[in-house]
Amino acid sequence: MKVLILGSGGREHALAWAIKQSTRVTEVVCAPGNGGIAQIARCVPVDLKSLEAMSRLAEAERPDLTVVGPELPLSLGIVDALEERGLRVFGPTRAAAMLETSKGFAKQFLRRHNIPTANYAVCSSAAELQKAVDIFHPPIVVKADGLAAGKGVIICPSRHTAMEAARDLFSGALLGQAEQQVVIEECLQGDEISFLCLSDGTHVAPLVPAQDHKRVGEGDTGPNTGGMGVYSTDRLLDSGMTEWILHHIAEPTVHGMAEEGTPFKGVLYCGLMMTARGPQVLEFNVRFGDPETQAILLRLESDLVEALEAAIDGKLSDTQLRWMPGASACVVASSAGYPGNYQTGFPITGLAAAAQVPGVQIFHAGSAEANGQIVTAGGRVLGVTAAASSLEEALARAYQAMAEIHYNGIYFRRDIGHRALKKKQ
Ligand code: AMP
Ligand code: GLY
Repeated sequence: MKVLILGSGGREHALAWAIKQSTRVTEVVCAPGNGGIAQIARCVPVDLKSLEAMSRLAEAERPDLTVVGPELPLSLGIVDALEERGLRVFGPTRAAAMLETSKGFAKQFLRRHNIPTANYAVCSSAAELQKAVDIFHPPIVVKADGLAAGKGVIICPSRHTAMEAARDLFSGALLGQAEQQVVIEECLQGDEISFLCLSDGTHVAPLVPAQDHKRVGEGDTGPNTGGMGVYSTDRLLDSGMTEWILHHIAEPTVHGMAEEGTPFKGVLYCGLMMTARGPQVLEFNVRFGDPETQAILLRLESDLVEALEAAIDGKLSDTQLRWMPGASACVVASSAGYPGNYQTGFPITGLAAAAQVPGVQIFHAGSAEANGQIVTAGGRVLGVTAAASSLEEALARAYQAMAEIHYNGIYFRRDIGHRALKKKQ
């Protein structure tokens, strides 16, 4: 069968790598892809902001299965558009994607279904805003309602700064687009867990848990990024906690969406805070995480395509995913200056030597091919990912591979996994 993957990052490289391993797959096409994906799949250009361009491409390619990586095409309704054309596609419809595309919708949905989340107020006017900010105790979390590429959450130390941040979201000063709604939220404390599940609209199948490092600096300091690294180990959650999250968060969400007439199929990514009162939902994403997917798929032993098809066909209850015990870790190599301004076009060397380290896979996030060479082409460049029987060994392998890789301005954090390693001591 022929599979089309939409997207161009490390997540899509990991998806292409895992999908290619399926015995049922004969061809993988990725649009637009990147320099690393081009080594294992046919890459074709497409504008991920254009529903029409993506639909035209899918019509021309007629894939047996389309897998959507990023949120933007889902928010535009790519799943609805391809299904209307009689194509099989893995992902939520535009209506179901609202769990990610509107934080106000997600919070109200969580409340309607008694799913644990931080106290909040959805505000659509200055008066509502003032009232909400007066009720909450600082620090106050202020969130843009819509998609904001990781820049839409501001943790404010005082009521005054919360009012300012919210006003800047309404005016468009902060994100470049004016928000119609802003969510004010209580600030939660605890460890964050990325809990991803496949959903077929009725049943969920959990993937292994992961923890990511969003801040650019070591010790989780400095500005937020798309993610500087992530690790996955079963030690993050014991089986009792996994069951609790399934029964109190993931399953009620999928059942609630079905009850409301917008069944959710695809990846339900629950961003959780493990608080003293138990796990609480910080946010939902409606797609595979990046870089979580790189670490998670390295541990998957089952056929990914079979699992995705089971989700599309409503047959996840018959599917048992098998995972490698132990751990995996993904360390992101970025361009100096990221998440601010950075330069691209620098040749990357040492990729072949790095790939020789046992258990290592290198997923490209922002690379391109130029004159027969792989060069940097983005803020996040590579996800050096390794699996092993322990987290310590997975990290050691990833950093050993990283030491082989060179390009002008390479930057990576040397402390990925530090929370888990500290806890163990
Ligand atoms: P979100 O885009 O909603 O996941 O938020 C991005 C990040 O902001 C999360 O991963 C958390 O680190 C942080 N965050 C979001 N909501 C809260 C909250 N209520 N309390 C504390 N931190 C939060
Ligand atoms: N790693 C966070 C995300 O995919 O949104």
